[in-house]
Amino acid sequence: MDRDARIARVLRYHERTMHRYPGGYARSLGHLDWATQPDPFRAYEGAPIVLLDEIAVGAGHEATWSAVRDATITPAPVDARTIAQLFYDALAISAWKQAGRSRWALRCNPSSGNLHPTEAYLLCDAFDGPGLFHYAPRMHGLERRRDLDVEAWRALAPDGGMIVGLASIAWREAWKYGERAFRYCMHDVGHAIGALAIAARPLGWSVRVIEGVDDARIARLLGLEESRGVESERPDVLLAIDPQGSRGALDVAWSDDVVGTACAGVLRGVANRLSSNHQRWDVIDDVEDASREDGAGEAHPAPPALVRSNHDGPSPSARLLARRRRSAVEMDGVTSISRDAFFRTMRSLVPALTPALHPLPWAPEVHPVVFVHRVEGLEPGLAILVRDPAAEPFLRSRIALADEWVRLPGAPDDLPLYGIAQGDARTIARALTCHQDIAADGAFAVAMLARFAPVLRARGPSWYRRLHWEAGHVGQLLYLEAEAHDVAATGIGCFFDDGIHELLGIESDDLRALYCFTVGGAVNDPRIQTQPAYSERG
Ligand SMILES: Cc1cc2nc3c(=O)[nH]c(=O)nc-3n(C[C@H](O)[C@H](O)[C@H](O)COP(=O)(O)O)c2cc1C
Repeated sequence: MDRDARIARVLRYHERTMHRYPGGYARSLGHLDWATQPDPFRAYEGAPIVLLDEIAVGAGHEATWSAVRDATITPAPVDARTIAQLFYDALAISAWKQAGRSRWALRCNPSSGNLHPTEAYLLCDAFDGPGLFHYAPRMHGLERRRDLDVEAWRALAPDGGMIVGLASIAWREAWKYGERAFRYCMHDVGHAIGALAIAARPLGWSVRVIEGVDDARIARLLGLEESRGVESERPDVLLAIDPQGSRGALDVAWSDDVVGTACAGVLRGVANRLSSNHQRWDVIDDVEDASREDGAGEAHPAPPALVRSNHDGPSPSARLLARRRRSAVEMDGVTSISRDAFFRTMRSLVPALTPALHPLPWAPEVHPVVFVHRVEGLEPGLAILVRDPAAEPFLRSRIALADEWVRLPGAPDDLPLYGIAQGDARTIARALTCHQDIAADGAFAVAMLARFAPVLRARGPSWYRRLHWEAGHVGQLLYLEAEAHDVAATGIGCFFDDGIHELLGIESDDLRALYCFTVGGAVNDPRIQTQPAYSERG
């Protein structure tokens, strides 16, 4: 069957792109070809652009991080200003950095290698009639690509809201990372979903995954059906931005007629060329195709219901945290975090405890193993956070390292966090993350495990993408929680898959490590200067 063959292709891709301890890396060029470095900014030359306002922190709809996590927030109206705030906090440039003659932009959403394969599109009726727009972070503007038929937009529009579509240009990542790049693209999509969901919360809005639309239709709706060649942009997901703040997936059954009419307008603008020359990575084309979404919306359990809310008074501005989020390039090896901050961080990763932070509409399949280095009041060692209690028997049976799971001292009763090994895990954390010091020198590091082949077999090959989105989303929450506790985080895509599996005694592809992280005290490089995000706009 086609479906089984596609699952087999995806599993082969994953196996083939594992990094193997101590120095076997997935295929890449092996050096950086600076002459062909892709432009991180897509522009549609010739498309009219609507510049969005910069909504400074403090001048928009504000909420504290703890309110974003736990409280009900009164919805703001959907208009040019609130849309500007959403993009400003989620996907805009947050600062420019300069060292010597190199200058580069950072954004609110992180990206492996700062290469930013993720592009965002907006379907809305807030700027002179319904339209399809491309979000251009370089200018913090919306390029109007197509006018939408009013009736067709009414049929598509989620109840007074709008639709954000995400797409990936894998070439941007493959330029540096070769065959493993598709994984990073999918992590980045997860980070972007998380960034949008967090940015929506101070506005009282929510982000909901739209189910039941296949990739071909997403591509048409986003104006990408003609995107071809090495620089092609492939559709990932449609998200409903719900101004009522409702949660859960949005199942749609759009007719061909509605989609056809919505896409009937002429597309404006021509996509800029990103590189002067390219290296083809057939393996990436293959996994993109094999893991495509066919819109069948295969059955999956919903996230567990709310256990208990935990609104806990004053905390920093969520918008401030979203705009100042940065990856630590180096960790100081001394900063510890309090047990309370650690448990609070873990809490935010559990959908049943903090549902407002969790837009993905399926029961969690990603479970972090934590390398505890410096958490006050906890012994160093390994712990596991079971993000869905229903997954516990499965995890226990597949992780052979520990016979005994013990509740961590002081952990809140409702936090499913268990110690699985004791001892200093710094050396092993460094070794398993491609020998990166940041994994040893933080307060804790994380290896995210996902229930893997059984999910793909039961639900289809597009879940390969979804599992990576989930890992990326968990990572986005780690970034924000780190900022909230005055430390920093860094995503770690470079890890030795086999080494992590071996350490934990994982013997089959029932369970796979998909992403790593570190959280701790960052060391800032004084040679790097920081400049404002949009000074050039005047
Ligand atoms: C999927 C992913 C994988 C990453 N892998 C690594 C890594 O292995 N090592 C590292 O130092 N940084 C890693 N990073 C951090 C990026 O380099 C960083 O996000 C990027 O340079 C942009 O900087 P910013 O996060 O401060 O905006 C990763 C980030 C993401 C999103």
